[in-house]
Amino acid sequence: MAGRWKNELTWSDVTPKDTWMNRRQLLAGAGAMGLAMTAAGRGEAKINAKKTSYGKGLKPNKLGDITSYNNFYEFGTGKEDPAKYAGSLTTDPWTVKVDGMVDKPGNYALGDLISGMQMEERIYRFRCVEAWSMVVPWVGFELADLLKKVGVQGGAKYVAFETLERPEEMPGQRRGILNWPYREGLRLDEAMHPLTIMATGLYDEPLPNQCGAPIRLVVPWKYGFKSIKSIVRISLVDKEPYATWNKTNSREYGFYSNVNPTVDHPRWSQATERVIGGGLFSAREPTLMFNGYEAEVASFYKGMDLKKFF
Ligand code: MTE
Repeated sequence: MAGRWKNELTWSDVTPKDTWMNRRQLLAGAGAMGLAMTAAGRGEAKINAKKTSYGKGLKPNKLGDITSYNNFYEFGTGKEDPAKYAGSLTTDPWTVKVDGMVDKPGNYALGDLISGMQMEERIYRFRCVEAWSMVVPWVGFELADLLKKVGVQGGAKYVAFETLERPEEMPGQRRGILNWPYREGLRLDEAMHPLTIMATGLYDEPLPNQCGAPIRLVVPWKYGFKSIKSIVRISLVDKEPYATWNKTNSREYGFYSNVNPTVDHPRWSQATERVIGGGLFSAREPTLMFNGYEAEVASFYKGMDLKKFF
């Protein structure tokens, strides 16, 4: 069903989005103002996305949860750092380099790269490897459509992604927290799966900077760190690409990182998760195999030892 999904979902009645924005601007001053101005500056303040049945029955987290509890180490390692410091990131103009084994490589202005893509709302479970979770109403399009547009060549087996490297605007990059730029990768079949999207918005707004503006990956059956933010490069390659957390600590973070309650992190259990926004005394919830997307993706990993290829 197409249309302004904002008017069709029950959370629009309950979410205190406007109240929250005003409060944020009062509380955080310049940081939150930056967020608001960036969205307006991009000239696409409201997004019309096609409503889909993805996430039927899931209750999205409030915008305030989704934008105030983030991992984005380019802006610091604290959960509040991205909301505090990402507001000043310049996201317009934005160029994405597409290279490697593609028919139409190039430096694409973001608008050109995503023109013609079918924008949809996708309400997905989001499970961080740190054993917390949220439900996010993303707005985006299928990565497969973008890959078809640029033309994947025969020998390509993986898609590699890179985040912007701009230490002037990303205070975390002025410290050696990670080997910058942040990089991630997917096998080509994973990248082509219809669940895999490139998000450019959430709720009915352009992505807030702390959530990975102006464009990020979302792979809902994998731990959150695979969902790389603020992407400036997409490469089609034939070898398993560098993946930041996997290379930083391969004992703790695998290349696949499929959500799997039966494979513990070496330092904690993955059997349950803390639902952000669930309140102080809410019980932990059981983590679902492939984060609840088992029916869609389990066949990709048939015959693989998921304890070894975690
Ligand atoms: N992308 C970049 N460039 N830098 C990061 O630090 N953190 C990852 C992922 N993508 C990260 C990133 C991790 S650990 C998680 S859990 C998710 O982003 C968090 O996304 P969210 O803040 O939208 O919830």
